[in-house]
Amino acid sequence: MPDGGRLRVVALISGSGSNLQALMDDAAHGQRFEIVAVISNRPDALGLERARRAGIPAEVLDHRDFAGREPYEAELRALIERYAPGLVVLAGFMRILTPAFVVHYAGRMLNIHPSLLPKFRGLHTHQRALDAEEREHGASVHFVTPELDGGPVVIQARLAIHPGEDAATLAQRVLALEHIIYPRAVGWFAQGRLRLGADGRPWLDGEPLMAPIVIDAAAG
Ligand code: GAR
Repeated sequence: MPDGGRLRVVALISGSGSNLQALMDDAAHGQRFEIVAVISNRPDALGLERARRAGIPAEVLDHRDFAGREPYEAELRALIERYAPGLVVLAGFMRILTPAFVVHYAGRMLNIHPSLLPKFRGLHTHQRALDAEEREHGASVHFVTPELDGGPVVIQARLAIHPGEDAATLAQRVLALEHIIYPRAVGWFAQGRLRLGADGRPWLDGEPLMAPIVIDAAAG
């Protein structure tokens, strides 16, 4: 394998890129993957700057320059393939992907989502968790399947919602946990410990996961 055996990872982003940063930091500390390119659908995404600072190619593919999802994704796929990744990570990539695109990367694409899936797929997860008077909330890393935020979950981080907490502080606390679980899942994948089984479940260390791995945040 090229690159001294390290897994080649392409990250898709739309915004701040703090999860991307966590992945780049982890990669720099010697795990078995490297981020070989960052692609944003938004030219103003802060994550592009993070990539440039780390010396990683930062590409913009603005969806507004395309007539629809299919032509956009054809170009996106071509751009991704130029970097020959073994894994694609969605790190705050806020575009819905077509089934054809997702199926092409089946078992080779992970996403992080700010809720305890299957709860609160889609947007505004923190406010929705508060509105539903949930006592716990968190984040999930899952393999991407055509069902939006519906793919098999590998790992979750869970915290207790504080009484009177607002969506902004909750989002911040969840994000800090995202930065722990995403590098962990990508590291497992890179080490060959994690894969998507033919049964549709994640397999970790040769066993199907009957439930996601759950990390509980320290109380408080
Ligand atoms: C993260 O909270 C991520 O879970 C969420 O967007 C944020 C991106 O932050 N993703 C989704 O909602 C995808 N459905 P970041 O750009 O700082 O990593």
